[in-house]
Amino acid sequence: LFSAVEMAPRDPILGLNEAFNADPRPNKVNLGVGVYFTEEGRIPLLRAVVEAEKARLEARAPRGYLPIEGIAAYDSAVQKLLFGEDSPLLAEGRVVTTQSLGGTGALKTGADFLKRLLPDAVVAISNPSWENHRALFESAGFQVENYSYYDAATQGLNLAGMLADLRALPARSIVVLHACCHNPTGVDLSSADWQQVLEVVRERDHVPFLDIAYQGFGDGIVEDAEAVRLFADSGLQFFVSSSFSKSFSLYGERVGALSIVTASKEEAGRVLSQVKRVIRTNYSNPPTHGASVVAAVLNSPELRALWEEELGEMRQRIKQLRNGMVEQLAALGAKRDFSFVNAQRGMFSYSGLTGDQVERLKNEFGIYAVGTGRICVAALNSKNLEVVSRAIVEVL
Ligand code: LMR
Repeated sequence: LFSAVEMAPRDPILGLNEAFNADPRPNKVNLGVGVYFTEEGRIPLLRAVVEAEKARLEARAPRGYLPIEGIAAYDSAVQKLLFGEDSPLLAEGRVVTTQSLGGTGALKTGADFLKRLLPDAVVAISNPSWENHRALFESAGFQVENYSYYDAATQGLNLAGMLADLRALPARSIVVLHACCHNPTGVDLSSADWQQVLEVVRERDHVPFLDIAYQGFGDGIVEDAEAVRLFADSGLQFFVSSSFSKSFSLYGERVGALSIVTASKEEAGRVLSQVKRVIRTNYSNPPTHGASVVAAVLNSPELRALWEEELGEMRQRIKQLRNGMVEQLAALGAKRDFSFVNAQRGMFSYSGLTGDQVERLKNEFGIYAVGTGRICVAALNSKNLEVVSRAIVEVL
């Protein structure tokens, strides 16, 4: 049965964790996966999470099956976070939200549903994009194309190329957009840029799929939801995948959501019924723990305030780390100006390192980064910053 099964390549991101864990060198540094580490090099357990978990443990909550769409209090808290407390769409009952297995689970549920709706549609992702976007939509049966995004010459956005490519796609393509903290480049659109993208999407009748996995890591919770809210105000129908992996530091709990904006409450009911079928035939219903914790935090004014404070601390610290890296590289006489790192947003820096340089970082220094040159700034700390900077200077 398995004699002809070929060895699959390692996952370009999670495969780095496997290689990192197997590396015996004591001073190794993992800048691969998008995970926030504290100054002590640990994944934080947020105080708001600890409080909510304590209460949940004390309540001895039973672990029955959840509804297929997940915990109602969680789904509605997600909606408010994305669309705003006073969103007319929410008041009109036009948004369908289902709990999902992280942001990836939301993307896959959305992709499977879209495959039933638009089986021949092309999916377009940014060039570059999160490595798993292409694989995920291809595995849902779609043909996946790239639209221009990053301009290596300016280390910024190629807006003209992006708009031209979106215009050139077949009408009714599915366009995957990073709502904030673009992964891997950290280069985001301005409000005016979003407006132009929205107009092309409308003109071409494309289906927007906004992926927002880093809400709160750019400028703030509300600020980072700007694109979602712009699309919400546009009257278009669209998809949103969201995640609390990073913002709640609950990576392994797989807490995300798929939200779909429909034209009416009646339509929302029909859409939900179909999304529930997709979920039921994939994993039946979602797990209880992470979403209960997130719902408890978001629905308690005290815990919510604590969470916002903790998220703000992570956001600020990443900005300091960016600056620290820029200064350290300059002080070490790096041949290249790295000040662009300060302008990038979210957890990542698209460092401009080549595949060969990334390979040397790993082989010679035990420093792991994604092959595209993406490094996770949120894994730096005052102890490893100099080591990493010296290694970068060395491989340049
Ligand atoms: C990343 O991009 O590193 C994260 O989103 C983790 C993942 O699932 O790839």
